[in-house]
Amino acid sequence: MSNQGKMDCGRRRLIVATAAVGGVGVAATAVPFVASMLPSERAKAAGAPVEADISKLEPGQMMVVEWRGKPVWIINRTPEMLATLSQMEDELADPPSAKSIQPEYCRNNTRSISDKKPEILVMVGICTHLGCSPSAKFKAGASEGMSASWKGGFLCPCHGSTFDFAGRVFKDKPAPTNLDIPPHKYLSDTRILIGEDTQGA
Ligand code: FES
Repeated sequence: MSNQGKMDCGRRRLIVATAAVGGVGVAATAVPFVASMLPSERAKAAGAPVEADISKLEPGQMMVVEWRGKPVWIINRTPEMLATLSQMEDELADPPSAKSIQPEYCRNNTRSISDKKPEILVMVGICTHLGCSPSAKFKAGASEGMSASWKGGFLCPCHGSTFDFAGRVFKDKPAPTNLDIPPHKYLSDTRILIGEDTQGA
């Protein structure tokens, strides 16, 4: 293979899907795929941080990037989504995330870097029960198999664990803890580095 060909391979792009809803109570709609540059295959295998461009992530949308072989969701929550977080804390198994994996700087009810962008949630999209991938259930109310009291969040299809818009698991569900929050930091207003933070993680 030519040197140019090797370089092209090393710069292979990962196509990541985005899913979107128009906000709580609005039906989900598909949005175009977006591309994200990733580190080389060797760097990825070593667990290198991954950069995500959120400049096109509209309120109510989520995107997925791969970090250490795991899907990491980035969700741009609407004010309506954020408002639900304080309405259901009685129903959550671990509302302050005392038993759950997350950096200290995300230890707040939005589970985000709240002094910068409280609406942006960066979270590993793997259920803490047995590792299935939860589904986005952003629409509130009795639809898509959810109860009338559902305010929006995520459902794990394997054994029925449900999570709110901060990835916090509801009581009496199989998942023992909230969804994990990886170390991350903002490189700019629209670029997030996942896998590294300002505290040396
Ligand atoms: S793997 Fe998600 S509830 Fe069992």
